[in-house]
Amino acid sequence: MANKDLTLKTEPVRCLMCPPDYFGVEYEINPWMDRRRQVDKDKASRQWDALYKVLSQDIGAGVELATPNLGLPDLVFTANAGLVVGQTAIASRFRHPERAREEPNWRSWFEANGYKMFHLPDNLHFEGQGDVLAFGDVLMGGYGFRSDLEAVRLVGDLLKKKLFALELVDPWFYHLDTCFCPLNGGAALYYPGAFTEAGRRLIEACVPDPIVVDREEAHHFVCNSVVIGRNVVMSCNCPKAREELQTRGYQVHELDFSEFLKAGGGAKCLVLIL
Ligand code: ARG
Repeated sequence: MANKDLTLKTEPVRCLMCPPDYFGVEYEINPWMDRRRQVDKDKASRQWDALYKVLSQDIGAGVELATPNLGLPDLVFTANAGLVVGQTAIASRFRHPERAREEPNWRSWFEANGYKMFHLPDNLHFEGQGDVLAFGDVLMGGYGFRSDLEAVRLVGDLLKKKLFALELVDPWFYHLDTCFCPLNGGAALYYPGAFTEAGRRLIEACVPDPIVVDREEAHHFVCNSVVIGRNVVMSCNCPKAREELQTRGYQVHELDFSEFLKAGGGAKCLVLIL
């Protein structure tokens, strides 16, 4: 039964990536980042290429490319550019000045590609698809480290969707997409340690098939997987989560994201689903 699912063609999905030409750990805005642990640039480039190839060739997604920019090392993490719904993009307003410098780049990209921009009030922080994720008909919004509670609530109102707000409490899992990963078909990977007791209860109540990830695999960023149809592109070294996914019929693509982890990012951070 599972095998049949795997042969199903997925809907054409478009996404945005940005080549890692100027990627590096140049500042420290999350616990993963340590300027003494520098990125191996060639390796980063090979890891990024492997992701690009899996998405564009193996899965058949349309991958658009943003132009890298010297001095903006985290521009590779396109998931934080904003939140895209149809032809509208809700612009991100980054918490840290280091990343706020990316905002004009993202704005130009969205405008040049025909998106209508929506801007949240000035005083609110919002980090796009890093913190707001669709789960079936509802939205899940993470807040606490980067996006503000009020910002994710406002996004739910704007999109006229029910939004469940989840407070993030572990600084190693500072965006929702580092600890919660919606899968098609009612399942989701999640790392309980990143949430409050209330948040865990909420997830267990909303998600028909919650797949708990342990601390070790969570630290490999397995919850930061890219999901397209039945395909899941995930970090290697996470055999338990892989097994859970495979028994449910997902087609798993394992890749190494070691260099991006040094900046606190994994597969999903490198991709903005359009
Ligand atoms: N260094 C980046 C930051 O701290 C990593 C962003 C990861 N992105 C994500 N969607 N979780 O902002």
